Amino acid sequence: MTFRAGILTLSDKGSKGEREDKSGKLIEKKLNELDIEVEEYRVLPDEEQEIIKVMCYLSDEKKVDIILTTGGTGLSPRDFTPEATLKIIEKEVPGIAEAMRYESIKKTPHGMLSRGVSGVRGKTLIINMPGSPKAVEECMDVIIPAIPHALETLSGQASECARE
Ligand code: MTE
Repeated sequence: MTFRAGILTLSDKGSKGEREDKSGKLIEKKLNELDIEVEEYRVLPDEEQEIIKVMCYLSDEKKVDIILTTGGTGLSPRDFTPEATLKIIEKEVPGIAEAMRYESIKKTPHGMLSRGVSGVRGKTLIINMPGSPKAVEECMDVIIPAIPHALETLSGQASECARE
């Protein structure tokens, strides 16, 4: 079965068409390379309630297997992506965000400024990534090796982890 994804870019400027969304397109390319189909792709303003609404729609109604977000994880006054995500996930999967931060800090000390979180709502895995295309490229490279197994276990396709 092919897995299905939603991509959310959180950017006030992007949502008004004042900035090209290179990061969302980069995520789409990386997902396609994994044979994951992008079913919904939206650029939203940094509005917590709107982010919550669209994430719940993608998870509860569209039932996508994975939602990847980019942007809104930093310290600026209108960065709300982690807060929105924490309000709607049922289980946290901290290792994903920890791994991204661990590797990001090796590239730039600014890596510690991303507050992104990861977790599960229903059968949907939700992962926050930072906003810049460079950060997305670097963070996707970190998480890609774990995504297929994560989606297989979450969807019930892999009941047991392979053991040596
Ligand atoms: N992570 C990686 N791998 N590479 C980067 O260049 N940039 C950082 C950080 N994480 C960066 C990174 C910067 S500059 C910021 S401010 C935070 O992510 C938050 O980004 P956001 O506010 O666009 O989500």
